[in-house]
Formats: sequence, C-alpha cells, structure tokens
Amino acid sequence: MNLTEYIESKREEHLSDLFEFLRIPSVSAQSEHKPDIERAAKWVADRLGAAGLDNIEIVPTKMHPLVYGESLHAPGKPTVLFYGHYDVQPPEPLDLWASPAFEPAIRGGNLYGRGTADDKGQVHIHIRALDAIRKTAGKLPINLKVMIEGEEEVGSVSLWDFVNANRARLKADALVVSDTSMLARGVPSITYGLRGLNYYQIEITGPAQDLHSGVFGGAAPNPITILCELFAKLHDSNFRVTVPGFYDDVAKLSKAERKALNALPWKASEFRKTVGAPGLGGEKGFSIVEQLWTRPTLELNGIWGGYTGEGSKTVIPSKAYAKFSTRLVPNQNPDQITRLLGRHIRKLLPKTVKFKLDVHSQGKPWVAPYTHPFFEVARRALEKGFGKRAVFIREGGSIPFVTQMHDTFKVPCILLGFGLPDENAHAPDEHIALENYFGGIKAVAQFYEGLAGL
Ligand code: BES
Ligand code: MN
Ligand code: MN
Repeated sequence: MNLTEYIESKREEHLSDLFEFLRIPSVSAQSEHKPDIERAAKWVADRLGAAGLDNIEIVPTKMHPLVYGESLHAPGKPTVLFYGHYDVQPPEPLDLWASPAFEPAIRGGNLYGRGTADDKGQVHIHIRALDAIRKTAGKLPINLKVMIEGEEEVGSVSLWDFVNANRARLKADALVVSDTSMLARGVPSITYGLRGLNYYQIEITGPAQDLHSGVFGGAAPNPITILCELFAKLHDSNFRVTVPGFYDDVAKLSKAERKALNALPWKASEFRKTVGAPGLGGEKGFSIVEQLWTRPTLELNGIWGGYTGEGSKTVIPSKAYAKFSTRLVPNQNPDQITRLLGRHIRKLLPKTVKFKLDVHSQGKPWVAPYTHPFFEVARRALEKGFGKRAVFIREGGSIPFVTQMHDTFKVPCILLGFGLPDENAHAPDEHIALENYFGGIKAVAQFYEGLAGL
C-alpha cells in the first residue's frame, strides 16, 4: 500500500482520534478550563510520541503549556518547524450551536465542533500525516521540529519567550503552519500574506456617577452619545479611515500582484452569501479581495454602557466603553498607528469627557515572496492531495507568530490552510469540510515526503 492508499484506508481511525481531541474543551481565555488545557497539551504530546517524534516536552509557561517534539534522523535533508495551536475560542453563545460545541458531529460532509477548523483539526492533519509516513515508510524522510502552543487565541503571551530561549534548538529551513483557509472549496491554497492586528479598548467618562436622565439630561454630557459620535467620525463616506496619516505607509500593490489576486477563482456572489447582509460596505476604489487582503481597516468589536437589561431605565451613565481594532497591511507600523490613532481620538473628543485608551495587543502585517523551492514542493503536494490546481493567496486574518518568525529568522513561511472562509471559526457551528480534512492529510504527507526529494 502506498502512502495515499494507506491514508485513505484509515479514514475511520483519523476521525475517531480527532473526535477525542475535539472533545477536550481547551478554551484558553477561560480559567475554569485550565485542567482541559493541561489535558489537551498532554493529548498532543502523546500523539506526537505515537507518530514517532522524540524529545517530547510539555513546556510549562507563565500561562498555558506548549508542546514540543522533534525527529532529526535525516542528515542532509531539510529541517522544517511546524507550528500550530491546540487552544480554542470560547464556545459561547451555546444556544446557537446546532450540536454541542465539544461533541463533534458530522452533517452534510462537514465535521462540526469548536476547533475543527481553528486549529485542532488542522494540527491533527499533520499528526495523522506523520503517523501515516511512519507506518508506511518506517521513518520520517526529513528533519522535523513541532511546536504546538496553547495561547494563540489569547495573544501567544509565552510563545516568544520560549522561541528566544531556544533559538538554536528551533533552527529550521522553513516554518510550516496550517491555521488559515483555502480560497474556496476545491481550491487548495498557499497563503503568502496576512494582515497585522492592533487591538484597543477605550473608556469614556462623563459625569462622576450615573444620573437621572430627566433631572440632568439636556445639560450633562452623555458618554455613550459622545462615544458614538467619535466612532462615526473615524470613517468617511467612502469607508476610508479618517485618522490622519493612517494610509501613509500602506504599500501600493504592484500591477502584477493586483492582476493575479483579482484573477483568482473567487466568487463575489459566494462572499455576499457568506456575509449574509443586505449589502457590503468596503473602502471605495478597491475590489473585495483587495479590501480583505491588502487594505487596512478599523473595526468596532464591541460597544457597551448604560442600561441594557429588561424594560427601561432612564439614566445617563457615567461611563461608556468600546473594544476596537485595526487590521494592518505592509508597511504600516503598529506603534505608529497607535500614536496616530491616540492623537486623533484626543483631538476629536470634546472637553466634556475624559478618556482612557488601552492597547491590548499589537501585531505587524506579513507578506513575503514565494520563490523558495519549498513552495513548489508545497504546491505539487496540494495538487496531489486534492487532485485540483493550487493557488497562492493572501488573507485578512492575523497570525503574529508568522510575522515574528519571518522578521527574526528570515525563514520562508509556508502556510498550508485547510479551512474555508465560511466555516464559522470563532463562531457557533464551527466546522471543517471532511474532504479538506482528508485531502489535507494526503497533501501534508506528500509535502513532507516531497521535501526529502529536493
Ligand atoms: N487562525 C486564525 C488566524 C487566521 C484566520 C488567519 C483566518 C487567516 C485566516 C487565528 O487563530 C486567529 O484567530 N487570529 C486572531 C488574532 C490573534 C492575535 C488572536 C485574528 O486574526 O483575529
Ligand atoms: Mn488559529
Ligand atoms: Mn483563531
């Protein structure tokens, strides 16, 4: 039996093993799940061992453990560092799931459950590919280092400490990550660009305490109104961000890249359907693909204040809050964007309120050429695994670790994504298409084998 046949013959086994992984509610943001995080780390370590990796370690950190393992028995062959995350986003709101978030279920060719696409399912693709290579060939034909962290969804707080403390040990010819999406069904994709992310929270304080809106309304400043005015002013009618200097460092897309991106087999009609809104609202003058992958944004992610409970309460609240973020593109500088934004907000807010702007996290964008020979191996592996033509894409999401690794070690970063944009990552009914999960195992196995042939 060859490698692909072997993988095909083990479909039930791949799935039952993945189900075990998915049943562990490894939610990194919620402290009540700390024991589940520990269990998930242990589960990953066990499976890396079973797949034939050595020197497996569950590395304790300030927050959640990360799992490391390696196989270094192919002298003269390439060395790859594979990175993924075993933590998941909180499952809430629970009542919007058709089947429970941590009880995997198959419906209509999809596997449902928190982490199926982001990122346990994709990590599992690699574990199963390694296992298949070991079972068919006996040993791994390349050198591999594997690092699976448990804090990605809360900002990878400890990851960089570990990387810095283990620079020599982690040295590799390329970084491989499966934590992104395919362009569309039937279009295997390699991602060569991601946006960066700056995340903020603002608190606006007006009156020293909540006030009766009849007794004080009309004379006292209302922080909710002022917050709404502020955010209304941060975009113009063409949906451009109004912060002075915001676009100054945005790299202009080359003619060739613009043409290539807009020629991809991508359907606006599908995108509209996935969004499900009566219309779209993007920056004027750019195609949707350009808006999503090559333009920066400023988005409100949450806004609250005052009374939101049952019935009515006539109150002017003392405080109003918002969480918001900017997605950044080359060559915007996260520090500079925070400075510009802070300055602009200070200018826009009236003297009737005070404000506090907190920076939760900052992350640089990433885009890199895909000329290294490994990319050609990856493209061919995807085509073998899926039986379809593979494409090179950029994406709008953020993986700060990829940028850091590329900046610090200058290694090629090969992003083989097996999710789909409509698979509800971070939302209820997250799922992965089974064809992409199985195709992924075949493609990744081909990739690791192919690298040995270079
Ligand atoms: N896997 C995603 C990143 C992603 C999603 C990249 C889709 C490309 C396409 C990752 O787990 C994630 O959710 N990243 C966060 C940022 C992180 C710092 C919390 C994001 O993009 O919002
Ligand atoms: Mn992810
Ligand atoms: Mn995520």
